[in-house]
Amino acid sequence: MRKKIVAGNWKMNTVIAEGVELAKEVVKESASVPADVKLILGAPFVHLTSVAAVVGGTSVALSAQNCADEVKGAYTGEVSAKMLASVPVEYVILGHSERREYYGETNEKLVKKINLALAEKISPIYCVGEKLEEREAGKHFEVVAAQIKEVLFTLTAEQMKNVVIAYEPVWAIGTGKTATSEQAQEIHAFIRATLAEQFGELAQEISILYGGSCKPSNAKELFAQKDIDGGLIGGASLVASDFVAIAKSF
Ligand code: 13P
Repeated sequence: MRKKIVAGNWKMNTVIAEGVELAKEVVKESASVPADVKLILGAPFVHLTSVAAVVGGTSVALSAQNCADEVKGAYTGEVSAKMLASVPVEYVILGHSERREYYGETNEKLVKKINLALAEKISPIYCVGEKLEEREAGKHFEVVAAQIKEVLFTLTAEQMKNVVIAYEPVWAIGTGKTATSEQAQEIHAFIRATLAEQFGELAQEISILYGGSCKPSNAKELFAQKDIDGGLIGGASLVASDFVAIAKSF
């Protein structure tokens, strides 16, 4: 059975006190979420210790939004996977399209980051997805296959077991324009089939989340699809009641 997951990506929003409040509300409302749905909060670095104190001992897990591609040392401003593990953090979002686009995140760097996170027993939530012009040119399968093969195919099966994938079409992020459930299912199935080329049956065990304008009104239809195992939620994760409503949509 694949894990059902609803993960919030707060991005660069909220100050610490607001993040703590949001986490408290989610923890409070999480009692109404079915026990087989994993809730994850993706907070900014400076919030992590404070939010960890809120979610510690609850079923809600904590995620960072990035980590360094080096182990330690003279890398001013960077945060290592080991530092995240010391918070503690269970997940880290890696390869988000905003980081690929604005911060020069390459597949090569992502291989390093994923390995460092896994070495610290942190599960990467690895993001893939095509841009609008790539979708319009009919290149979305090719783009996503390259993001999967160049990064995840370098891992062992043992490592892959601890990776979560998020498919986020760039044209659907923060635009209010969601992929249709058919479009999302089609590419989720394609991602699973691609994984199977390298990992065989293990592909059936990997959770693949959908991200991009996912909200309470469309989550049910998306999560009903065979290969959609949950969501990576941006805007709607900043409102506890919306985030929890999404998690109740399975
Ligand atoms: P929105 O839900 O705001 O479209 O963001 C999706 C996303 O980028 C999650 O990582």
